[in-house]
This record gives sequence, C-alpha cells and structure tokens, in this order.
Amino acid sequence: MNILLLGSGGREHAIACKIAESELCTTLFVAPGNAGTARERKCRNVDVNPMDFEALRHLVKEHDVRMVVVGPEAPLVGGVADFFASENDLRHVMVIGPSQAGAQLEGSKDFAKGFMLRHGVPTAAYRTFGAKEVEEGIAFLRTLKPPYVLKADGLAAGKGVLIVDNLKEAEQDLREMLVEGKFGEASARVVVEEFLKGVELSVFVLTDGKHYKILPTAKDYKRIGEGDTGLNTGGMGSVSPVHFADKAFMQKVEERIVVPTVKGLHAEGIRYKGFIFVGLMAVPDENGVMNPYVIEYNARMGDPETECVFPRIKSDVVELFQHTWQGTLQQVTLDVDPRAAACVMMVSGGYPEHYEKGKTIEGLEQVKGCKVFHAGTALGADGKLLTAGGRVLCLTALADSMPTALLTAYQELENVSWEGCYYRRDIGQDLLKMLV
Ligand code: AMP
Ligand code: GLY
Repeated sequence: MNILLLGSGGREHAIACKIAESELCTTLFVAPGNAGTARERKCRNVDVNPMDFEALRHLVKEHDVRMVVVGPEAPLVGGVADFFASENDLRHVMVIGPSQAGAQLEGSKDFAKGFMLRHGVPTAAYRTFGAKEVEEGIAFLRTLKPPYVLKADGLAAGKGVLIVDNLKEAEQDLREMLVEGKFGEASARVVVEEFLKGVELSVFVLTDGKHYKILPTAKDYKRIGEGDTGLNTGGMGSVSPVHFADKAFMQKVEERIVVPTVKGLHAEGIRYKGFIFVGLMAVPDENGVMNPYVIEYNARMGDPETECVFPRIKSDVVELFQHTWQGTLQQVTLDVDPRAAACVMMVSGGYPEHYEKGKTIEGLEQVKGCKVFHAGTALGADGKLLTAGGRVLCLTALADSMPTALLTAYQELENVSWEGCYYRRDIGQDLLKMLV
C-alpha cells in the first residue's frame, strides 16, 4: 500500500526507514521530508505542508494513500486525525496519531495534569493559575520549596518551562508569564508544580485506544552544553535502553502509568490511536528504590529518541500500525533488538540561538558503522548536501553494549564535518557513571 508520513526531521527519517523496510509498503510519501528521506528506498518527498489538510486530502486521493503516520505534534493538535475521520472520502485512511482531544495531553499542560489527577497517575503536586490569579499563584509558590517549576499551559516550542531557584525570581516570572505574555497565548495559564529530584527517561507507548505496546525506553539530552549545561535544544542525542529501567521499574511504569493512561483516555471517550510519549522522572525513595512520576505527556514520538528506539524495533511497523488502526494490537507481538543504541546529534554552530545555513557537509560517504539520520539538510543545486537547520544530522550506532555503541557513534562522527559543526561529547556518560 502507499503510505504518507508527515514531518521533516530526524524522527521522521528514522520512522521512514522502518516503514520502508515493510513488505506492506509500496511507496512512502514524506511531506515535506528532507534530503535524507529523499534518498531512502521507496521514499518520495512531496512539497506539502502537514498543516494544510486540504493539500493532504488531494495528495492522499491522487496517490491512493491508505495510511498516514503523523510525526510532529502540530498537525495532531490542529486536528488532522479528526479531519480524516470526519470526511467521507478520507474515513477509510488509517491515521496513526490521536484525535485533537487526545493531543491535548501534549497541547495543554493543565489538561494533562488534570487527566493524571483524575486517573491516579503519579505526578508532581501542582496548581494552575490564570491572569486574574497572580496573587493566588504567588501564595502557592510560597508554600513550595525551591527550585520552583513554572510551566506555560500551551505549546511554546519546548521553551515554556522555567525552573527557578529563587522565590523572588519565581514570583516575577509568574507575573511576566500571566500578565505580560512572556510566552504569548501559551502562558495565559500557568501550571506551578513541585520539583521532582531524580533521573529522567522517556517511555513510548503505541496504543489502539484499548490495547498497547510499550516500546524500548530511551533517554535524551536536551541542553546544548556538556554536563547538561546551557540552553535547551530540541535534543542533542539519545540512548536506548536506559539500564536502570529494569523489569521491576517497568512493571511500576506499566501498572501505575500506562494502564491508567490508556484506560483513562478510553473512559473519557477520547479517540487515541497512536503514540504516547511519557516523560518520566525516576525518583529514588529512602531505600534507593526508583519510583516513576510523569513529568509530561507528548502525543507523538520523541526526537531524537526515535532515532534510537526505531532502529531497535524488529517487528514490521506497518503491521503494528494496521493493528493500531483496527484496535487489535493485542494480536501482534513487538520484537525488540536486544542491542544498545546510541545517537549523537550534530548541529550548526550557534544553535539553539543564531546559526547559519547552507554549509557543505563533507564525509558522509565514509560512515560505515552507523545509520545517519538527517534532521536539517537540503540538496544544493549541484547535488551537494547542505545544512538547512539547527539540528543537522544524527548518527546512530547499535552494539552489544552501550559503551561500544557510544564509542562507534563517536568514531564514525569523526568522518563528518562542515564549517562550524558542533556536538556534545558526553552523550550517555551520566548513565555509564551510574553503572560503576
Ligand atoms: P516539560 O516540557 O514538561 O518536559 O519540562 C521540561 C523539562 O523541565 C523536563 O524535561 C524536566 O527536565 C524539567 N521538569 C519539568 N517538570 C519538572 C518537575 N516537576 N521537577 C523537576 N524537573 C522538571
Ligand atoms: N526529545 C524530546 C522531545 O521530542 O520532545
């Protein structure tokens, strides 16, 4: 069958590779894709904006597309799944991604927190405040211990969360968010919550609305600087699996988080056929036993976690998606490669602030032991590969152990360069230190 994938980043390149591996896939259209997806077997980039639903309708009908896989959150929050479900000529198309109501798990932090509370999912204690409740918000802040966590309710391009050590500063930030629109409309309401101290990791779930599969765990590295310092980025690398997420821990994740989340969506009548990305904090108790708390939900896969998680999936993902659509996910098994995966993101100099585009990328043909996923690349007029974004490429290595996977990714990375390119040299090192 013909399939359409929405998005253009490293996540979509990794998803595209898995879809193209399936014998069920004839042609994979990627809207709009990147220079990496353009080169993949069976793949064809199409210059269509994933937010232009009428253009998607045209594309799907023109090429008899039977399945649409949604990469990023914006089309989901914009209601792409509902659009397909409500149109007579599109209803038969299998859309992998939740309804607009389901995407509120990501689109509204207040909705997500309320949902967790309603369904008993462990998370940090919180309260939500609007513009008229600044004084109540400040009073609540004063009942908390530092550091203080302030979250813009709406989507703020990953920048809407502030973690502040000082109470006076937190009060000022709350005022700026609520009254002065520090994050625009997104901070018209603000979630103020308790700080959780622990180790973060990501768990991914594929659900058909009733049954689910838990995909391999991963950890991403969000800050630009080594040792988790400096500005937040889209993600500078990732590893999978996360060693401390052992059987006992994952059993707690499943019982306390995944089951009530899937049941909660069902009970609230929310149509959800797609991925749930659960951002977790593993918090040690007084005996050092780790307990999972939800930091956030996303309605999609993570980027760059997907670049580690998808290469480890051995099952036919198109078959998994078919069952997701049909509501029969319990009939298939998820086979996972036991090897470790490590991915290092190469970014443009200056990212996440100002950076230049259009630099020539050299040396990719020398990379043999890694999969290269493209994030922000373009083909120049002369066919040369150029940088076209902040996050440019990532290299993913699979190996029998995490140290070897990391070593391989870093060795292969030496082959690739462009003017001003930067990457973090410490991806995965915090986890390796926990092991010794
Ligand atoms: P979010 O956008 O909700 O994932 O928040 C961004 C980052 O802020 C997370 O990845 C965590 O590192 C951190 N964070 C968010 N909420 C908390 C919390 N309650 N306690 C500690 N850290 C948090
Ligand atoms: N890597 C974090 C995210 O995709 O939101």
